[in-house]
Amino acid sequence: MSTLRDLAEEHTQLRPADIDHLHRIAGDWQLLSDLSFADLLLWVPVDGEGTFLCVAQVRPTTAPTAYLDDQVGRIVGGPEVAHLEVAHRQGRIWREGDPVWYGDVPARHEAIPVRLRTADGEAAEVIAVVGRDTNLSTARTPSQLELNYLTTADDLAQMVADGTFPPPRHPGETTSAPRVGDGLVRLDANGTITYASPNAQSAYRRLGYASHLVGEDLAKLHRRLAGDPLEGTDAANAVLAALRGDAPPRREIDARGATMLTRALPLMPAGVPIGALVLVRDITEVRRRDRALITKDATIREIHHRVKNNLQTVAALLRLQARRVSMPEARVALEESVRRVASIALVHETLSMSSDEAVEFDGIVDRVASAATEVAATEVTVGMRRQGSFGVLPAEIATSLVMILNELLLNAVEHGFPPAGEESIPGPAGPAPPEVVVSAHRLRKQLHVSVADNGRGLPEQFDAERGGNLGLQIVRALVTGELRGTIELRNGAAGGTEALLVVPLARTPTDRLTP
Ligand SMILES: Nc1ncnc2c1ncn2[C@@H]1O[C@H](COP(=O)(O)OP(=O)(O)OP(=O)(O)O)[C@@H](O)[C@H]1O
Ligand SMILES: [Mg+2]
Repeated sequence: MSTLRDLAEEHTQLRPADIDHLHRIAGDWQLLSDLSFADLLLWVPVDGEGTFLCVAQVRPTTAPTAYLDDQVGRIVGGPEVAHLEVAHRQGRIWREGDPVWYGDVPARHEAIPVRLRTADGEAAEVIAVVGRDTNLSTARTPSQLELNYLTTADDLAQMVADGTFPPPRHPGETTSAPRVGDGLVRLDANGTITYASPNAQSAYRRLGYASHLVGEDLAKLHRRLAGDPLEGTDAANAVLAALRGDAPPRREIDARGATMLTRALPLMPAGVPIGALVLVRDITEVRRRDRALITKDATIREIHHRVKNNLQTVAALLRLQARRVSMPEARVALEESVRRVASIALVHETLSMSSDEAVEFDGIVDRVASAATEVAATEVTVGMRRQGSFGVLPAEIATSLVMILNELLLNAVEHGFPPAGEESIPGPAGPAPPEVVVSAHRLRKQLHVSVADNGRGLPEQFDAERGGNLGLQIVRALVTGELRGTIELRNGAAGGTEALLVVPLARTPTDRLTP
């Protein structure tokens, strides 16, 4: 289905700023639809001759719809939309006396011109028309609630025509605002409550206010109710700002273990501040779940921290043992185990500092690489370089990958550049300084990693598929088992050895893929 923007760009001359304003309308007009008990259709003129295109539609959640079919994309001219043309031409709200019939549904048409104010707020131009169409089949004598809603709806409709509704958005306010059905309070110009819907009354009751709301000063009430004085002042100031004609950000009030979200909107039809509308929603449950999640997060981090500590203890024990054994082979084997355990600890350390089960892997690679150069025989200094980025990796991939890289890097340092004295055949790379390059890039949901050195290359008759000792066995087991990837060991094109690793990146929620 086409979006509002697509439709407007394809069929009309509207400027980007106009289309932005229409987006703002469509983002906030559920409120107007619910208060009006009416469908709203957003119509834009396509030719200046009375033909209109419907670019957005919303149905009321408080009443039956007048349109069972979707109207978006319809282009209509002639008598059916004559009322839109009047509103568009004359720039005033148009109301129809007699109902019109859609099949067997009687409906009342209204048309509200949409104005966009210029930056200085002076001039305002009609850029579109909102059709407000009410299904009359269930109409009866309106209740107190309905009368209050309709009055407020008319004020907001006038503000659409003035260009003062919807108010500008506050950055970051994307969570759903309270709706009419959640709870609605109307204030007069002094800030005194003139109407409160039953749900609003219940929401305030949960905060500890049991009496009738009508007649209360809402700003004062907020200040009194909030458990935290600062929060109370914020919530009170939001009400006062709306009374002055501003659109303040949403505020939360916590009291007696309950949390209420409030949104205050100015009411100023024809530019005259006549009061404010405050929508409220009990969000106690939502906040309770938020808090539970935060606690769970902290617990997981704490566990990673302890796993890291335990691994470091194991490494320390092995190191102690290595110092005590006299057999050189056993000592080397123990020292290698120390490094293997330490590299896993590195991942848990990073996880214990991150907020989700994913890690920025580049930092870990750099640390493992510099640890690997330190074990290199003292006579040879091996440079380490990283190319490209591993990005953020899920924990389960990171733990295996760090062990694999640890083995490959140690091999490059230990076997690629043997200390002088051992059979050191100068490689075809000639006198280039010893260097290991780790490169990583992502391609079609796969991570491609290579570890390349410019050393003496693999031994002759080395079986790249099966050969090797414990180090390469660990690598192959992790690559094929844990990571379900592939590894290839080969002599580099310009000498030295190259290990090529391909790891599929599953689409898990924690895996934030960078394309
Ligand atoms: N980058 C490299 N350059 C040259 N030879 C290598 C390289 N990587 C591996 N090799 C060869 O492959 C062999 C097997 O490596 P592997 O890591 O399995 O065992 P290791 O390093 O000898 O012992 P460990 O089990 O302690 O790692 C090495 O002994 C070495 O001969
Ligand atoms: Mg090895």
